[in-house]
Amino acid sequence: MDPFRENLFAGKTAFIAGGTSGINLGIAKRLAGLGAKVSVAGRDPQKATNAAAEIGGTDVAVGLSCDVRVYASVEEALDKAVATFGKLDIVISGAAGNFVAPALGMSANGFRTVVDIDLNGTFNVFRASYAHLNRPGASLIAITAGQAVNARMLQAHVCAAKAGINHLVRVLAMEWGPTGVRVNGISPGPIADTEGMARLTPTPESVKALTDRIPLRRYGTKDEIGDATAFLCSAAAKYVTGTILDCDGGSQLGDASTRDGAHGLM
Ligand code: NAP
Ligand code: COA
Repeated sequence: MDPFRENLFAGKTAFIAGGTSGINLGIAKRLAGLGAKVSVAGRDPQKATNAAAEIGGTDVAVGLSCDVRVYASVEEALDKAVATFGKLDIVISGAAGNFVAPALGMSANGFRTVVDIDLNGTFNVFRASYAHLNRPGASLIAITAGQAVNARMLQAHVCAAKAGINHLVRVLAMEWGPTGVRVNGISPGPIADTEGMARLTPTPESVKALTDRIPLRRYGTKDEIGDATAFLCSAAAKYVTGTILDCDGGSQLGDASTRDGAHGLM
């Protein structure tokens, strides 16, 4: 049985930056499945159009072209979303870039590119959205990652960018709380069938090594991140702001592999 009430988001509209593939497309589908109208935005216009069709077609979804690194591009996409569905209630900032490289193998432009998409992009999306969301009940969610909290080798750009996102969420929750606008983050653990995990764990051996360390012993699903998003956007979370919700099978608690079966001794 679906844990959420049918049509929970009927009458609501959502804008999902980076919603044209992967986890964020999963979020868009979940919100649309619960009755919301959704706009999904990414750099590739064809990918955006295809994503909207996959979500359910023109009655429920529109695909928009947008580069979150460019403020005017974000404003334009938000204006189109509002022109299409009349208003905005929910904004998700999930666009991201990642590649695996040591800091010394990363050019200044490589580092800047990821920080620009993830951190500056989230600032741009949230800052530009506020004009459309400035009322009680509005909800913004940033998609962050465990790298924000736990330092990871070969991930200097992502660690720096996602740590910045977590703190940006807290500051905006304080600044915008008085108008009833809530700002939160979701930190997914490893999610199956995504571009992110294809880059981070490209072989079956690396998938197994990581799975063995996760307390719940499996990768998560896009639907599970959709559920976490639905909760945070719903009235069930109306007193929740400035939090980062880990939806990660306990990954952030540390390495839960048992090593020689020595439960509790390591
Ligand atoms: P993905 O499928 O590659 O999705 C990235 C999305 O962002 C795409 O829609 C992409 O579309 C868009 N995008 C990239 N650069 C952009 C830009 N400059 N402007 C606008 N849109 C842009 O990735 P994913 O693996 O599902 O990850 C989604 C989110 O979850 C990310 O924030 C990631 O950090 C987070 N996360 C993922 C995992 C995981 O297990 N995969 C774990 C923890 C956190 P275009 O290429 O067309 O622009
Ligand atoms: N190792 C080291 N540097 C790399 C790299 C790698 N594997 N991949 C890209 N870079 C560097 C490039 O060399 C370039 O730096 P340079 O100009 O000094 O040579 C810089 O990063 C920007 O690359 P470019 O391809 O021009 O950027 P882009 O804006 O077209 O693409 C990326 C951004 C690199 C993040 C690209 O991987 C992307 O579009 N990712 C989106 C999908 C994704 O990452 N999904 C997972 C989300 S968790």
